[in-house]
Amino acid sequence: MIKKGIILAGGIGTRMSPITKAVNKQLLPIYDKPLIFYPLSVLMLAGIKDILIIVNKGQLNQFRKILPNGKNLGIKISYAEQSYPRGLPDAFLVGKKFIGKENVALILGDNFFYGQSLTKRLQECVKLKSGASVLLHPVKNPSLYGIAKINKKNKILKIIEKPKKYFSNLAITGLYFFDNKVIEYSKNLKPSKRREVEIVDLLNKYRKRKKLSANFISRGGAWLDTGSMEDFYNTSAFVSALENRQGLKIACLEEIAFNNKWINKKNIMEAIKFYGKCNYSQYLSTLIKKDQK
Ligand code: G1P
Repeated sequence: MIKKGIILAGGIGTRMSPITKAVNKQLLPIYDKPLIFYPLSVLMLAGIKDILIIVNKGQLNQFRKILPNGKNLGIKISYAEQSYPRGLPDAFLVGKKFIGKENVALILGDNFFYGQSLTKRLQECVKLKSGASVLLHPVKNPSLYGIAKINKKNKILKIIEKPKKYFSNLAITGLYFFDNKVIEYSKNLKPSKRREVEIVDLLNKYRKRKKLSANFISRGGAWLDTGSMEDFYNTSAFVSALENRQGLKIACLEEIAFNNKWINKKNIMEAIKFYGKCNYSQYLSTLIKKDQK
């Protein structure tokens, strides 16, 4: 059972400069909440309560203002600083002490997931005992992602980072589940041409040992990008369309914690006070009213 999760929220957000010059990308809004709420909500939906957020050096205080220590959500949030982005597997070296002897999930701070069966899928993924597992989702532009080719039995045959030549349309999304060997494997990776250690090289270590499994976000589910300015607006539009149609919020952290019984009505009232008079608070107040009926 995976009980620990890391959110990698570093990066310099070059593609979104000048907006990201002063503010970390993960604190920018996707419609009505900071981007970081979305990957955090995914870990919470997976039942993970012990979370390490890796941020850029000097940005800790920005994050703590909105996500202090997790107590308000009935979870534990700790932070680690990364001096510069060395690539995704570096998260396991920065987070070595946090991981200890346990298995761990990693989610990229800019990944957005949504879907009817997502929670169920996540709860299956955290059952991992040994090896590693990834979530795959079809994309139109495979040259932008880590791509996997599978056989009829859903076994991963091949993975390549940002392939120049088409060989599959299945992207490896930014949510990964690993056993404790991940620390040792991450130590021995060599930087790629873009001078970063690559997640696909790490995954290949598992694949070669027949220890990598694939899960799928089904057709009704969405995995959206927030990499460029345009993606940012498109994802915001998606959230806005769904929330305004249904009257239900995506990635309302307090709602997830409340539904999981990690927090109570008093905590929700405190959250309303913390956020002040806004739509988000108004939504929170409907949660406790509903509960009184
Ligand atoms: C990274 C990974 C890639 C993965 C993607 C998901 O890409 O290297 O394998 O498909 O995240 O968002 P990057 O953001 O470094 O371009």
